[in-house]
Amino acid sequence: MKTSHALAFLGCTHAKQLRLTQPNRGSDLIDTGIPDITFIDLTSYVGLTATGLLTLNLLLGLLLSVRHNSVTSWLRRRLPIYNLHNWIGYTALAVVLLHPVMLLPSATARFGWLDVAVPFWAPNQPLINSIGALATYTLLFVVVTSYLRKRIGIGTWKKLHYTAYAVTVALFAHSLLTNPNLDDKPVDFTDGGKIFIEACAVIALAAISWRVLYSSQRSTLAITKP
Ligand code: HEM
Repeated sequence: MKTSHALAFLGCTHAKQLRLTQPNRGSDLIDTGIPDITFIDLTSYVGLTATGLLTLNLLLGLLLSVRHNSVTSWLRRRLPIYNLHNWIGYTALAVVLLHPVMLLPSATARFGWLDVAVPFWAPNQPLINSIGALATYTLLFVVVTSYLRKRIGIGTWKKLHYTAYAVTVALFAHSLLTNPNLDDKPVDFTDGGKIFIEACAVIALAAISWRVLYSSQRSTLAITKP
């Protein structure tokens, strides 16, 4: 990935590698009309954006679940955590849906609508792509049930909302294990994009562990209280 380009954030190297490994196909790979950017690159950037948004939303959801008060405690200023969590959830869903759609016009990816919607037969990495589809459908479920939460009933909705953790696991499995060149070669975990995903995964894991510790401490307190 070229660092000079405005969209080429995080220093991912896959696009550059693709051009180096397939030098004779250099011109037809630039299928977007944007210099040095292919649809596979765009798919990757959109996926990285979705990972960042979903990590941020997970953190906000965890703050909501522990009833964090941003005025009296950490931050010491008013932060509309509920509204942020809500709108980042909707935005993340739109970005996640856009992510595989960016593959359709690609000159090299060879993905059709069916490969995107039901990726078990996808031309590349079918298992990893299916995990991505699972994350997408589960995210759709989380957002739709949240939209309908008053009709579903808050108690039932809260239980359904735990599927957000399944989204997180599937999201990181898919984003870490996908080879952004869409060839079946080993993944480069030191690529800039992968380092960003690894950082998000560490933050998410630390925050979920903190949430588990917090609720187990609260239940111990409730048991020992006279
Ligand atoms: C877009 C609509 C969404 C709404 C309206 C919503 C609303 C909420 C609310 C009100 C809570 C606090 C629940 C409580 O009372 O304890 C919460 C928690 C949470 N949310 Fe969301 N949410 C949405 C989407 C998402 C998405 C897309 C994710 C991530 C995939 C997510 C992840 C979480 C997590 C991890 C928690 C903490 C669950 C727990 O351990 O108690 N939410 N959400």
